[in-house]
Amino acid sequence: MPNLLEDAFGQIQAEVDSAFDAFLPVPDDSRARLVEAMRYAAIGGGKRVRPLLLVATADLFGVNRNAAVNAGCAVEAIHAYSLIHDDLPCMDDDDMRHGKPTLHKTFDEATAVLAGDCLHALAFDILTQPDTSTDPFVRAELVAALARASGHDGMAGGQMMDIVSEEQDYDLHQVTRLQQLKTGALLAASVEMGAILGRIPPEGRAHLRAYSRDIGLAFQIADDLLDVEGDEEKAGKALRKDSEQGKQTFVTLMGVDAARRQAEMLVEQAGRHLAGHGEEARLLVELARFIVKRDH
Ligand code: IPE
Ligand code: IPE
Ligand code: MG
Ligand code: MG
Ligand code: MG
Repeated sequence: MPNLLEDAFGQIQAEVDSAFDAFLPVPDDSRARLVEAMRYAAIGGGKRVRPLLLVATADLFGVNRNAAVNAGCAVEAIHAYSLIHDDLPCMDDDDMRHGKPTLHKTFDEATAVLAGDCLHALAFDILTQPDTSTDPFVRAELVAALARASGHDGMAGGQMMDIVSEEQDYDLHQVTRLQQLKTGALLAASVEMGAILGRIPPEGRAHLRAYSRDIGLAFQIADDLLDVEGDEEKAGKALRKDSEQGKQTFVTLMGVDAARRQAEMLVEQAGRHLAGHGEEARLLVELARFIVKRDH
């Protein structure tokens, strides 16, 4: 990994961990189990691609770092909740996540459902705090962007399509839609929220939207390639499950080689959308390349 990217990941991982530590003090009553479970899912483990996308975009527009990290934690809280629920027996039924037992294995299913619910609520709580933005209009726009990317027009809608895909034959168009919602929506929201903090009006965000559409698809193709070819130790989760569970992905539809070529093409295209920012967008360009080269 180039130094710029490695340093940026190191910094954001430490910042997100310490912000969640501060957001989640363990109460001195029987809710302790719930907050311990939220901390188990939110602190340590994840790559923090979404917060890094958000702060790297915000950086283009000179946004205060603390504000961007806060908003990054909000997206990551939604991501962490989505993984807790994704791993439940009623969904993908997984035992390992981030190199440790899934939350419902360490705690129990009821705690996993509630910890997911509470991380979902925490995300919007963070976005309404003046530390994230002193401007209530900016805060409302951040809430709207994340809400849309999380619900039926975003991640959760994609998860529904993913489940239905186990019983239906999807074509490439439907798989693309599934991936855009399931994975692309939160990645795109991360970029969008960086631009919202930077007070860039919607008409000034078109190139950023084009960038995130491309990396969103590439990201899920990389995840699906990892499922087929990756190393479980490095990935920190069980692999070779998609075809066993009848999931339909770019890899099942196109094969490994064509899927990899597609992901690489998308990433090169993503970089070109940012050409107007020149050197300032180097971190976002390198992050796009990391997305297809990653082994975890
Ligand atoms: C995994 O996302 C789930 C998908 C949306 C493909 P990440 O690869 O970003 O998960 P982390 O880094 O382990 O949290
Ligand atoms: C999950 O996709 C995407 C979410 C919205 C959580 P996957 O089911 O492919 O993610 P992994 O492979 O379990 O990380
Ligand atoms: Mg899943
Ligand atoms: Mg899964
Ligand atoms: Mg997967």
